[in-house]
Amino acid sequence: MNIIHRPEWIIPEREATSEEVFFNRRRFMKGLGAVGLGLAAGGPAMMNSAFAQDSKDPTLGLYPAKQNAEFTLKRAITPESVTSVYNNFYEFGSHKRISGAAQALNIRPWAITIDGMVDNPQTIDFDDLVRKMPLQERLYRHRCVEAWAMAVPWTGFPLSELVKYAGPQSGAKYVRFETFQDSDVASGQRQFWYPWPYVEGVTMDEAMNEMAFIATGIYGKPLLKQYGAPIRLVLPWKYGFKSIKSIVKITLTDQRPVGFWETIGPSEYGFWANVNPDVPHARWSQASERLLGTDERVPTQLYNGYEKQVAHLYKNVKGQNLYR
Ligand code: MTE
Repeated sequence: MNIIHRPEWIIPEREATSEEVFFNRRRFMKGLGAVGLGLAAGGPAMMNSAFAQDSKDPTLGLYPAKQNAEFTLKRAITPESVTSVYNNFYEFGSHKRISGAAQALNIRPWAITIDGMVDNPQTIDFDDLVRKMPLQERLYRHRCVEAWAMAVPWTGFPLSELVKYAGPQSGAKYVRFETFQDSDVASGQRQFWYPWPYVEGVTMDEAMNEMAFIATGIYGKPLLKQYGAPIRLVLPWKYGFKSIKSIVKITLTDQRPVGFWETIGPSEYGFWANVNPDVPHARWSQASERLLGTDERVPTQLYNGYEKQVAHLYKNVKGQNLYR
């Protein structure tokens, strides 16, 4: 693999911002009115403890699911010991070490509302929904807009199956997703300057694409809370902020959803957010990525390596930035 020289904006793990310094910086940024552009600012510090699976999880028996041989990888899988303690989940803090705080999230019972332009609007319990879906394991790359990357075995089902289950009406053009809101357990949601709840959306064509996936598990087990338990989106050809966690509401609509990050910084984080090494973020290059758990930097690939599967979705989209 090609190792790329570190551009100036990359800092080695050992020099990463400590939490204290980071929070002081955030207060400073807030004072400047520059809040919300912090997606890239969190220091990638690591914790050593992973978290045990809940032995009472009622879906434990569904895992591991059979691997779908069409979705494998040439890249090595990133160890769970790395990915379970390095997460973006702003509901629990605007840094990477949220795995401890995320354990406060109560994921049972977990109701999911399906509404909007659908024939079968309903509120369904997660444990019922997951049993109606064709669970399978897929190995996917994940590329964060902050230029770190991982490769993980998700378990879940195609988003298209959920859309079909909802019974989409002909006027529906987008699928909008919403995360829980409960500032009693999610201290990040007490940071009033963020536009809670976290929202994301995709077009119907994107939702029906074979790559769009709903994850309920990872590493052959139900999702740990820090990954967005019990149910999250996975869109491997887009920057990671599109892959919304801990979903409570799915709405089919004819209005283009405005995502959490798009609301905060539309010139930096847009609706499309497709991975492209040649289109830099407003403040840093996207040409390469750091593989979590290694010192390796590798070139980023167009659509994160999924060009064949998704490029056709965008051939008629004109006059918009597809890559932010
Ligand atoms: N979903 C919610 N609700 N809140 C978040 O802060 N962060 C996003 C995405 N989904 C986020 C979210 C970002 S920026 C990334 S890179 C991925 O989750 C990180 O997923 P991981 O922690 O499982 O690696």
